[in-house]
Amino acid sequence: MITTEKIEFGDFQTPLDLTRDIAAFLRDNGVTPDIIVEPTCGRGHFVRAAIAAFPHVKAVYGFDINPQHVDEAGNMVRNMAGHNSHFECRNFFQIDWATFFAGLGETILLIGNPPWVTNSALGAIGSLNLPEKTNFQGRNGFAAKTGKANFDISEWMLTRLVEALHRHSGCMAMLCKTATARKTLRHAWLNKLNIGRCSLHLIDAQRHFGASVDACLLILHTGMPESNTTACVYPDLSFDGKITTIGLAGKELVADMNEYSRMRDIDGIPYYTWRSGVKHDAVGIMELKRENGHFTNGIHEEYQLETTYLYPLLKSSDIANGRTTPTRYVLVTQRKPSDDTAEVKETAPKTWAYLTAHADALDKRRSIIYRKRPRFSVFGVGDYTFSPWKVAISGLYKNCRFVVVGEQQGKPIVLDDTCCFLPCSSEKEARFICELLNSDICQRFLRSLVFLDAKRPITIDILNRIDLKQVAGHVNRVMDAEKCLSAAARFQEQSIASVR
Ligand SMILES: C[S@@+](CC[C@H](N)C(=O)[O-])C[C@H]1O[C@@H](n2cnc3c(N)ncnc32)[C@H](O)[C@@H]1O
Repeated sequence: MITTEKIEFGDFQTPLDLTRDIAAFLRDNGVTPDIIVEPTCGRGHFVRAAIAAFPHVKAVYGFDINPQHVDEAGNMVRNMAGHNSHFECRNFFQIDWATFFAGLGETILLIGNPPWVTNSALGAIGSLNLPEKTNFQGRNGFAAKTGKANFDISEWMLTRLVEALHRHSGCMAMLCKTATARKTLRHAWLNKLNIGRCSLHLIDAQRHFGASVDACLLILHTGMPESNTTACVYPDLSFDGKITTIGLAGKELVADMNEYSRMRDIDGIPYYTWRSGVKHDAVGIMELKRENGHFTNGIHEEYQLETTYLYPLLKSSDIANGRTTPTRYVLVTQRKPSDDTAEVKETAPKTWAYLTAHADALDKRRSIIYRKRPRFSVFGVGDYTFSPWKVAISGLYKNCRFVVVGEQQGKPIVLDDTCCFLPCSSEKEARFICELLNSDICQRFLRSLVFLDAKRPITIDILNRIDLKQVAGHVNRVMDAEKCLSAAARFQEQSIASVR
């Protein structure tokens, strides 16, 4: 049974077989440590496998927050041939890793599998197994408010470990989610840490942990001043059959460095501003279907409502599957974030009564973005929300196709917050921009950037890299593009206000 405690401490021990394969793989590829360190050693499977692979190491250190695990790991290793071993019950977040590594002074192998749990999952169960408050990865208040600040605690742990180890001769070999491995590398590369060769070796997390996540063994070598900012990805614990080379381009990672290099001229100016759809965090209430002359909400209640604030809605699943005729509506209570929703009371009394009848649920919306905002507010609205035409893409699906979205019965179609879009003034403009975005060259560029295994593969940051003028150049449509792009800033003003 999976207990809350197991989740809180990411307590899923690595099977011994896998730890043995990993240790042997490192040994066979020239890793020669003097010291082995397992920062969250659990029951000690990695330590045991590493001692077997590197029988001549001088010392072994294992730490874990769980005292029973530490005892078990310590007893097991003491029964192996005479090693200088140190096992201690310690909280990772309270160890000064830089001082610890400095005291060891020899070639270190950091090996293990830190807990796979996100700070928001910990928040939900009221756990304090977190680092002290820190502006982790430099995320600002806005990112924190919109959920971008959600991170895996292993991401924090790996980042701290590389920072502490990077000036020493060493190797870090850690099991983690592939997204965590990438964030760790990005942090190390951006901060010019002394890391050399790096690679990701995919592992079957379903088979080994019963978890359907994309996971890998991240290997990076430290103490190398000549840092190169790429890492190869392999399908298994070998250096055969390379899948791709990921790397840093500007401040962001790209998924396929070779393809990206061929098309880097498209990485340029975002003439248009990409937008996210409307966020409301109350699907059951704010989204409705029209049936037999009334509206039915997600909790199967029927209401007569004015259509003033109801807009046809498309969601990620619609956009990803090319469905552009909406079958549901969303209540958009504001045209811009500063609008006072009290206006609804005057202009649409039935809608106001409906919102008031569900005030309990709406007032309880947890996201901080609704605090200090008018009651029943939505988020992510501005003139762009109501543009008559849009070119849209789903942020959640692996499908990189764009679709044109128009109006329905004279009302602009609104997208949900899992979609990204460009607002357009006319159908002609939208069709032209969509054609550029779906062109072979642009799709190849996009695929070189996108990590398809990410929770949200397509992001505004990625879309903002597409220089439509350059794309137009590749497909001989520069003149047409110039006309559109010179007018592309018209939905700009409102957006700045909405972010503030
Ligand atoms: C995914 S398990 C892996 C255990 C072991 N490394 C292995 O590979 O079998 C994560 C381990 O991290 C430990 N852990 C969780 N939070 C910790 C913390 N704050 N400090 C130290 N250990 C922690 C858990 O007790 C658990 O044993």
